[in-house]
Amino acid sequence: MASLTILSCTQQEIKFSPNTLEQFRPGYHFTPAKGWMNDPNGLVYIDGEYHLFFQHNPDSTVWGPMHWGHAVSKDLVSWEELPIALFPDSLGTIFSGSAVYDTENSSELGTKENPPLVAIFTYHNSLQEKAGAIDFQTQGLAYSVDKGKTWSKYAANPVLLNPGIRDFRDPKVTQITKEDGKKSWLMTLAVKDKVQFYESPDLKNWSLLGEFGQGIGAHGGVWECPDLIPMKAPDGSQKWVLLVSMNPGGPQKGSATQYFIGDFKHGTFTPDDTMIRWLDYGPDNYAGVTWSNLPADQDRTLWIGWMSNWDYAQVVPTTTWRSATTLPREISLFDVDGTLLLKSAPARELEKLRKTSYPISKTESLLPSSAVEILAEVSSDDQFSLTLSNELGEELAISKEMGLVTIDRRKSGKTNFNRDFAAAHSAPMSWKAESIRIFLDASSVELFVNEGELVLTSILFPSSPWKKVKFNQGLDELKIVDLQ
Ligand code: FRU
Repeated sequence: MASLTILSCTQQEIKFSPNTLEQFRPGYHFTPAKGWMNDPNGLVYIDGEYHLFFQHNPDSTVWGPMHWGHAVSKDLVSWEELPIALFPDSLGTIFSGSAVYDTENSSELGTKENPPLVAIFTYHNSLQEKAGAIDFQTQGLAYSVDKGKTWSKYAANPVLLNPGIRDFRDPKVTQITKEDGKKSWLMTLAVKDKVQFYESPDLKNWSLLGEFGQGIGAHGGVWECPDLIPMKAPDGSQKWVLLVSMNPGGPQKGSATQYFIGDFKHGTFTPDDTMIRWLDYGPDNYAGVTWSNLPADQDRTLWIGWMSNWDYAQVVPTTTWRSATTLPREISLFDVDGTLLLKSAPARELEKLRKTSYPISKTESLLPSSAVEILAEVSSDDQFSLTLSNELGEELAISKEMGLVTIDRRKSGKTNFNRDFAAAHSAPMSWKAESIRIFLDASSVELFVNEGELVLTSILFPSSPWKKVKFNQGLDELKIVDLQ
């Protein structure tokens, strides 16, 4: 049974952002100070800092000439935006990519004493595209010898030419140890309806190793932003997980990220099966990739995504900025009845955000702010439902019923900027829900069932912040935690 403490915050204590122009600005998710953002790029950890670069159009709130914006965090919770890292140049605008710490200076872009951070990105040449070319996407390098503060482009760009394929982008580079014990750089690249694997000794010279994906998995749209990650299964065996974002064709329409679990050897990825699996069943999680160069003692795979969907990202009702990142998440493998799946738990650092905690026993409670975490145990019948509401009668409903976990944003406020936005999004969950964690911010909800065994991420634009939560059924040990 829930404990009998009564929620002590009163209506007068509720804190909301006083600036109405900024009413949708999240309290603890990263957003650019101004302008447009899409995919996270170049995620790399160095000297105690998590770097987050991102697709950025600084001069407009819609997509346009892409730059790499830049932010850093020491704790994954508070982010400091830094000057733009990469600007378009004569070879093109700067599309998505990754960054690695070249500790042995294999690229010779730094020195052995001061190794470089190297960014590997896609050049998108719109002039060539407009002129009717199809080979307008190539891969280039930039490097930093001051731990990411300032960046120079490599003089002999591009390092990987286009073989005559329109969609040829989003290089994710990682260092691998080959079967013979030698270290090598591996690039996973999105190539239309598949991924290709390239190998390099020095980040400058790349050779094709193999490819994967044609006719396998979901293909409702073009494949983008791949990531190939070694990961331990719960039984200790070594697996490889391939994340592939795809737009459109996601389970909730528009953009989404699928994944494959299998083995990777000699440039060949072999999936254990061809089942279609989604990283997040909500409508608003795209283009997520993992951090490189995490210290081994962190013993985790750290990931972040873009919290929007290409179906409506450019018309959401924010004014001076558009889009936020998801919460940083720790991804790992777990086993359901003999099938391996990928789980995404909120990064442990998020617990540092917790301010006052309100254990509650009433079925209806006020929220202390617009930035809260709601925690609960699911009672034995494996069904639950709760509803958030404001004084305008707007509502957000979250439930598990008949094996379906649902976030219903049909009545969640401003929805008419896109014909499909007002919808209920469901995900099948055949195994038992034991606990939930819900993260609410000014314009988002992230639902983690069983610490991320099933996740739904959704953006929302309530005309006035959520003020009340009603626990309808199936939840015990309820706690509301103020994160602001
Ligand atoms: C994914 C994507 C990438 C591309 C970038 C352009 O959202 O389309 O494939 O590199 O955005 O901004």
